Order: sequence, then structure tokens, then C-alpha cells
Amino acid sequence: MLAPAPLGSRWTAYLGLLSALSAAFVPAVAVKEHDFKKCHQSGFCARNRAFADHALASSSWQSPYNIAPESGSFKDGQYQAVILKTINDSGETVRLPITVSFLESGTARVTVDEEKRQKGEIELRHNSKARKERYNEAEKWVIVGGTALDKAAKVDYEDKTQLTVKYGPAAKFEATIKFSPFAIDFKRDGHSQIKFNDQGLLNIEHWRPKIEKAEPEKKEGETATEETKAEETKAEPQGEDESTWWDESFGGNTDTKPRGPESVALDISFVGYEHVYGIPSHAGPLSLKQTRGGEGNYQEPYRLYNADVFEYILDSPMTLYGAIPFMQAHRKDSSVGVFWLNAAETWIDITKSKDSTNPLALGAKSKTSTRTHWISESGLLDVFVFLGPTPKDLTANYGELTGTTAMPQEFSLGYHQCRWNYISEEDVKDVDRKMDKFKMPYDVIWLDIEYTDEKKYFTWDKHSFTDPIGMGKHLDSHGRKLVTIIDPHIKNVGDYPVVAELKSKDLAVKNKEGSIFEGWCWPGSSHWIDAFNPAAREWWASLFKYDSFKGTMENTWIWNDMNEPSVFNGPETTMPKDNLHFGNWEHRDVHNLNGMTFQNATYHALKSRKPGELRRPFVLTRAFFAGSQRVGAMWTGDNQAAWDHLQASIPMILSQGISGFPFSGADVGGFFGNPEKELLTRWYQAGAFYPFFRGHAHIDARRREPYLTGEPYNTIITAALRLRYSLLPSWYTAFRHAHLDGTPIIKPMFYTHPSEEAGFAIDDQFFIGNTGLLAKPVTEKDKDTADIWIPDAEVYYDYFTYDVIPTAKGKHVTLSAPLHKIPLLMRGGHVFARRDIPRRSSALMRWDNYTIIVTVPKDGKRAEGDLYVDDGDSYDFQRGQYIHRRFVFDGAAKTLTSADAEGRESGAAAAAAQEGGEGEWMKKMRAVGVDKIVVVGAPAAWAGKKSVKVHSEGKTWEAHVEFTPATQGRAAFAVVRKVGARIGADWTVDFA
Ligand code: NOJ
Repeated sequence: MLAPAPLGSRWTAYLGLLSALSAAFVPAVAVKEHDFKKCHQSGFCARNRAFADHALASSSWQSPYNIAPESGSFKDGQYQAVILKTINDSGETVRLPITVSFLESGTARVTVDEEKRQKGEIELRHNSKARKERYNEAEKWVIVGGTALDKAAKVDYEDKTQLTVKYGPAAKFEATIKFSPFAIDFKRDGHSQIKFNDQGLLNIEHWRPKIEKAEPEKKEGETATEETKAEETKAEPQGEDESTWWDESFGGNTDTKPRGPESVALDISFVGYEHVYGIPSHAGPLSLKQTRGGEGNYQEPYRLYNADVFEYILDSPMTLYGAIPFMQAHRKDSSVGVFWLNAAETWIDITKSKDSTNPLALGAKSKTSTRTHWISESGLLDVFVFLGPTPKDLTANYGELTGTTAMPQEFSLGYHQCRWNYISEEDVKDVDRKMDKFKMPYDVIWLDIEYTDEKKYFTWDKHSFTDPIGMGKHLDSHGRKLVTIIDPHIKNVGDYPVVAELKSKDLAVKNKEGSIFEGWCWPGSSHWIDAFNPAAREWWASLFKYDSFKGTMENTWIWNDMNEPSVFNGPETTMPKDNLHFGNWEHRDVHNLNGMTFQNATYHALKSRKPGELRRPFVLTRAFFAGSQRVGAMWTGDNQAAWDHLQASIPMILSQGISGFPFSGADVGGFFGNPEKELLTRWYQAGAFYPFFRGHAHIDARRREPYLTGEPYNTIITAALRLRYSLLPSWYTAFRHAHLDGTPIIKPMFYTHPSEEAGFAIDDQFFIGNTGLLAKPVTEKDKDTADIWIPDAEVYYDYFTYDVIPTAKGKHVTLSAPLHKIPLLMRGGHVFARRDIPRRSSALMRWDNYTIIVTVPKDGKRAEGDLYVDDGDSYDFQRGQYIHRRFVFDGAAKTLTSADAEGRESGAAAAAAQEGGEGEWMKKMRAVGVDKIVVVGAPAAWAGKKSVKVHSEGKTWEAHVEFTPATQGRAAFAVVRKVGARIGADWTVDFA
């Protein structure tokens, strides 16, 4: 019998919360690091680190994995063989089938399985009902395209020891598969970029039966502690320390591990690459740190094991709520990367070393290489390899495989007002009214768990929310939306039809015995929907129909929280790993996918709320995995109202962006605690640049709706909100690019300037889409300057004053940034769109005319940009109902032109060409005009000019222009007013 689980910190917090509701006071509870495993407390991690220590310490180490040469065959872009793992001195081997696939996109994929488990020729302990195979369905959830084999890939060289395949665009890539020991060297243009098993750390723990041994004698009352086990592990570094193979306990929970040890691990070296990025989510720098100790380095590997990390700590490789096992390596002018497709608990060690004897450096100076060691608890070894060479190639290749950001609901780019909790309809309406009164734009108000009837999702608290539809209509009257929270734990009580159905239809996650799993979360005793089960997803969808989830309407959207899943009394605040999901897969195998399957179920549910109503869902998630970008937005969880948490949010969001899930934000103001006014104000100024922009606060935090801040803060926060709203057309355009090819929405320096080494570790400033806007939010107390690093020799203008910033490529420039000022520069050479009339919500700006900003580059020659617009709600864009303009400023011709960015016909011809005819939105949008054009850095020769010629739709007219000459420090600029051209038409403004 298991010992009763001691109460975890989260549970303590829950009890605290209950008492708080009467006492209105809860002491802050900081994350207890010891509630979460360190590598030495996670058997497979400890074993693999020990294996690595042993291999790296021994000069004679040889990896025991060899391809049986006669087993190999290459056909249609795919190499298949069997790796033999030698397991003892008598040469006994284990068969591990390997497939190396070369894909049309230029991506390579290496998959290794274990024959015995594949064939089910293993025995499970404890009468487990779990599947015997290694988990092989991650692909089903994650990969949505890009797997067509490259039939042109061909064997270039082959002998008894190795095989070289040329593949990829113009056959620039090659993979040399070495047989003995097994290793792969991936090259681009003849040079090694990525190596597998170069250090010999490949380790696939094969199945073996448990041989019952007599327990070593223990003195009475003595148990093996985690520490002594770790010591034992160190003492037996061959990876054959059995002490952690079987049942494993942590924090009072025992994992029965019916399949025994089954980890997969591999060393992946990035040859000549000093920086690696990605593998979110961690609260640390964008450029990942080393993890094997040493000054400034971490001691622990980066961990990916989605967890409810209550009050997380900063600058740490500790796991957080979501996991994306995608890593980019970057050096001057080259990016490469890997995607480790495995949803089990994963640890990644990173070390860097100068490699003076690198034979592949071909006489070049010594370079730093980064070596990584990936360790997953179970599942297949399944790795995708990307050879770039640009960061954009990587995000595009990764996006092709895992999908890109869904086109969002346009409102979701506006500001979201949340707290735990708005306590009644009156409260919601009051906040709504006050935002209006203070002229602060916002789009969405959120309801946290207290809106429900005692945490029973799909119900309303009957006393506080008597007329939710009335409330919804009130919000709708000025274009606003409501988001309600729905979590995956379903309250286990008698009078609740949702739980009754969950049970009767048998749709919940099971425990290791195969009975319904019961654990604790907000409602107390709960069961969890198993969103891996198609029938559960279908049932889930039925719960969201308007006539089922009464009180919701067309402007209600959903927040999915606690989907790691958070189980207050579970191991590490989550589910036991030996729980069972649909298909009898153990929770261990699918843990990191769990949150995504739940968000996915909600996403599809929202798509089918009413027959004939097909709108883009908005679902926010806390837990995520590779692929979650296809079904909604994420936020970084329970941060704190502290300056360092504001700072940390920026690298975290940048990391999301380069890892394929850019629709991300952090709680503005900080979730726990009470931000001082300066911090709250600075946070709004930073949050205005998060792709997902939401203020949120813990139930114990004081009310902090932005209008409560008082002056001068109210005015400053209003300006930040309005800045966000005026730039919405450009944000939406950036989302379109993310949707098309996986480009991040806010971009770090290494991404936009891959040749500028000094920028590779910079993670506190970023560009927004293709606008050339460079933001550096102030994240320090009492700071009234900002040091911005300038990545190139282009001219930079202050966004607000048009001052020409005295810059030099690669140097920092110090800008004055008193509280009212957001450090925001405009890089020369761009054109972007704005809407300048401040309104209460994005919906009310829908038909507003545009302002086009041109930033003239240093050489005066050419500026470019684009604008994408669609109805922001339906899927009509998929049948061409959108406007996508390309703007080009030609300095020599002195013109600014707008043409269809995709070379489509415009005007009536385009309308006629629309599949299914031109819709209402498109017709109306065609009437929307360009109101104003601002040319910043306008040539002095334009002085005295009073009008410009506008040519469009077969007509020519004059528009008034006002030229303001340069003054000391400020660029000249020209403003054309009442331009009169329509946004969807071709036009040219002639400044000659
Ligand atoms: C945890 C979430 O991270 C937080 O944002 C939310 O307010 C609480 N759960 C209550 O639902």
C-alpha cells in the first residue's frame, strides 16, 4: 500500500486560499524548488548524466551502438537499418530499428525504435494494462505537414563503414551515417553543422525483466534516500545502476514504472556554434546557458516537464508550464537546429567548448561549439534536423512540420483586462464603464474560476451572475468580449451532470489500475477529461454549444488553465506517471502533450458551437507543446509583481517566438503581489509590445485596473494602450506572416541581424514584425534612460519625436526615457500602417481610415512594407477575402505606391475573381481609405511643396502636403492629409 501523500505546497496554498476567503489574507507562498525534481532525483536523468560522465571521462569509451551494415537499405529518400546495441561482454545485442528520412523541405529525420517493445515481446510489472510499445503517436498530434520524402535524395558514397546521402535544396546538404559506432554527421556545403552521437552518449534503455534480488540488509527504520541513491548512481557510472530502474518515489508518491527503465538519450553537437536558443518555457536568458556548472552556469539541465510551478523563480533551467523541444543554434550567418519529438519528461544538458583542433574548421580560427545532451524518459528517439542557413529558414521549416500560428480573432490583439476575480456582473460592467470613462481602450474582460457555481465548469454562480447573457450583450454593444475560464478538472460531486456524463461515458483519465483517476484541484476532489480520446473531444464540444453552456454567446471565448495538468496532491503537482490515457498509453509518455490536447479539444468545441457558425476560436492556454500554436495563445503563468519578473518576460516571449509559438504574453502587472505604480506603468508600456497583452492579478492582490493608478500614471498607461491600438494594423500583419511561414511576431536581434555577433545574446529589445519598429521597454526601477543596441548602419528615428538618433552600427545609444516615454525607434527603410483615431475597442476601429508611415532610409532610396487586413473573425480569408498591400517608397522616382502584395488584380476584377463572390466585409472594406501619409526623413528638396499628386483607379487628384524642415536633431517630415485613395486599390502618391 502506498503511504498517504503529504500535502504539497500547492495544496497548502489551496487550504490557505480557503481560509483567505474568510480572513481576506494569504501569506505569499514562494515556489518550493524541492517540490520539483532535480536531475539526480529523476532516475533516468541521473542514469544518463552518469553515463555521460563515464563516457566523457574515459579516453577509451566507445559507444555500444553499431549499425549492422547488411541491415541497411536506401530507397525513395529513406534509409532503414537496424542498430545493434551491445549489452554485455559476451557480445549479446538488442535490435533497434532506425529510419533516416530525407524530406522535400530539406529537413532530415532520424527515428529509432526498439524491436522487442515494438513487437510487444515484453512483460509489464504490477499487472499493468499499459501499452508495451514505445509511444509512437506524438507525430499524430504534432506533425501536420512537410513529411513528403525527398525522392531526389541519393546515396553519394557507401562502403562497409559508412554511407553518405546528399539531399536538400540543390543537394547542398549531406548526412554521413557512420556504422560503428553509430553516428551521423550533418553537413551543409561540405561543412559539419550538427553531429549525432559524436560524444557517444546515445543511450536507449532496452527492456529487461526485473530479476528479483534479495534486498541488501538495512538497519531497522533505514530507507534508501534520494541522496544515497544518487551517490550509488555516481559510483556505478555504466548506466547499469538498477536502483532507479523500477518503482521510484518522490515527495511521498511512488511511480510503479511497469515497463522499467526505457529512456532515450543522445548527444547533439552544433559544430562551431556558440549560441543556442529555444526549448521554452524557462525563465532565463534567450541565449541558453551551460548546465554543467562553472561560473555563471547552471548546475541542472534544462527541464521540460509541464508543471504548475507556483511562483516560479527566475534565471533557472527549472521546468515551467509548457514545453517545446525545438532548439536553434546560431553563429555568424548560419542557423541550424533540431526538433526532438518526444512528449515525455525531458532534460537537456548544454556545454560549450573552444574547439581548437576541430578538423572541420579547415584552418580557421578556433571556434566555440555547443554540445547538447537530450534525455527523455520514454518514447521513441525521433529527431528532426534543420540545416538553415537562416533563422527564417528554421522557423519556416519547423512551422511546416508543426503548423503555424492560427489566424487570430482580431480582437485578441487588443488589450485584455483580467483578474482573479471579477466577482459579479455589476463588477464586470463597472470595470467596463470605468475603462470608457478614463478613455482607456480594451477589448476583452475575463472571468476567472469564481464565476462558476462552486468550481463546476459550464455553470454560473447564481447569486453573482444572474444574467450572463445580459452582461454579454452589454459588452457586445461596444464591441467587447468576455473570456471565461474552463479547466480540465471536473468536480467530483453528486449533483453535477458534467461529471456524471464524464463517468458514464467513460471519458476520463484512468489510474494505473484502469479505474477513473481521482485527484485534487480547485473544486476539491476531481476527475480529468482525457482529451486524447476522440469520444471525449466530441463530448467536450457538446458542452460548449450555446444552448448547453447557457449564459455564453457569440462574444464569449475561453481560457484553459491548469492543463499541465495541475493536480494539487499529485507528484510534482501533476498526474502520476503510471496513469493511463486513451489507448492505454501511460501518462509518462504523453505528459507534455496533455495541455495541448485539452486546448485542442476546446478549440474544436468553439468551432462547432452553432451549426453554420464558423468563426476563429480564441483559446488561451497555460500548458503547451510543439503544435499548440495552431490552436490559440499562451501566457507565461504565475509571475510576480516585481521588476525582475518584468525583465524576465521579454526573453521568455522572444523564446516563444523563435520556437514557433509567438502568440504569447506575460501577466501585465505581475500575478502575485501588488506592483508599485511605476512598475505597473512600465509593465503596460512593455505589455503593449507582447503579442498577447493582458493585465491579470491574483485573488489576494489589490485591485489594479489601469484607471486606478492615478495621475500621472493613468495618462501614461492610456498612451501605452492607445499606442497598441493605433498599431493594431501592423500587429495583425505580423500575425499574418507568422501564420504564413512561422515568422516570430516580435523578433530578437540574432533573428533580424544574423551577421551581427554582438547582438546574439541581446534579449531585452526587439523588432515588431516587418515594421522596422525597434522597442526596448524600460524594466528597471527609477530608470529614465534606455540603452539600445543598434544592429546596423541604417538611420533610426525616434517614434514619437522623429528625432534622428545619433547611432553607430554595433554601438549602444542612450535615449532619454522618463516614465512617460517608451523607448521606440523606427528603422529607416520601412513602411507600416496605423489607425490614428483613438477608440474604445478594436471592433469600433474596424472601418477607420489608415495612416501610412514611411521611414526614409539613410541613402534615401527605398522603403518597403505591407499591410494585411481581413474580417478578423471568419475563415473567409481562406477564399481570398482579404486585402494585402505592398507599399514601396521609391526615393529616385519620388513616389509611394501601393500594390497587391501577391500580384493579384485589385478593384472590380479582384472582386469578380473572389471565390463565392465578394462578401459584405470585403465590399465595405473597399470603401476604407488612406487618410494620412507621414514621410519621416523627407528630402529637404520637398520644402515649399504644397501638394502631391495621387493616382488611383484611373483618376488623378491633388492632396495637401505639409513639409516640416529638419531642425537640430529632428528629421524633416512631410504629412500628406486627406489622401483620398482607398486601401484596397492600387495607388501612387507622386512627391515629384
Ligand atoms: C492559475 C493561473 O495561472 C492563474 O492565472 C489563475 O488566476 C488561477 N489559476 C486561478 O484560476
